[in-house]
Amino acid sequence: MITKLRFKQRIEETSRKRKTDVVLALDFPYHDPKNRDALFSKAQTVLDAVSQYVCAVKFNHHLILPLGTFDGVQTLVNRAHDKGLQAIVDCKANDIGNTNQIIGEYYFAAGFDALIANPFVGWEEGLKPIFNVAHKQDRGVILLTYMSHKGAVEGYGQTIINPQTESRIAQYVAFAKKALRWKADGAVVGATMPEKIGEIHDVLGEDVPIYSPGVGAQGGKADDARRAGARFLIVGREITQAQNPAETARRLSVMETT
Ligand code: XMP
Repeated sequence: MITKLRFKQRIEETSRKRKTDVVLALDFPYHDPKNRDALFSKAQTVLDAVSQYVCAVKFNHHLILPLGTFDGVQTLVNRAHDKGLQAIVDCKANDIGNTNQIIGEYYFAAGFDALIANPFVGWEEGLKPIFNVAHKQDRGVILLTYMSHKGAVEGYGQTIINPQTESRIAQYVAFAKKALRWKADGAVVGATMPEKIGEIHDVLGEDVPIYSPGVGAQGGKADDARRAGARFLIVGREITQAQNPAETARRLSVMETT
């Protein structure tokens, strides 16, 4: 019997084979929607150029809004698959369970291997249906745990107090524990806060890999994030806006110091 690999295993295998932990965020600045063909060509050119130095491609509104999920984006997802890459959609699912389920069903129908979801909505009638849809199809759910931008402290950084016991726990630690309990396929922690990566890694161990955005344009350093425990680095503008995206991706894929 052939056992199908799940998303978490597929991305590990690709990463190991290609010797890279970089996830390309295929993001571009605003393009006039009348000129969508130019945006599609640009995205395809960058994807082709960097594919050997990355293990996955992450898509966001930058391409989904102008190109459409079942038009240009699906073509790019297929192209990523042809190159042996995993495709992740950064939809940050954040709604009631029924809507989350439909978000998952459409993105998985378009070929995505995993999606990003927001644990603030909770489990019952929140993220449970999207986890069920994903895991039935061997796809993945990656949970936000501590976002990379400054304002993240207002939500992910708050302290939760249990009114009965008066015990305190940081919101991001509570989310990391949920990532373990819900069998999440990854946890997003900003590379801008390596100390948070370390704390969250202490909770997750090797069971839930940390995906870390914020390298380069947002100020985070690849090796600091890796040393703190990030398993994958999500990198967008540093690569997509570079003079030489392939060389930049190659450089980022190698740890500078050991
Ligand atoms: P840059 O250009 O900053 O792009 O390298 C980063 C990409 O990742 C998204 N992003 C996040 N996604 N949690 C996420 O799920 C985060 O904390 C986070 N921070 C950045 C960003 O929208 C872009 O696509």
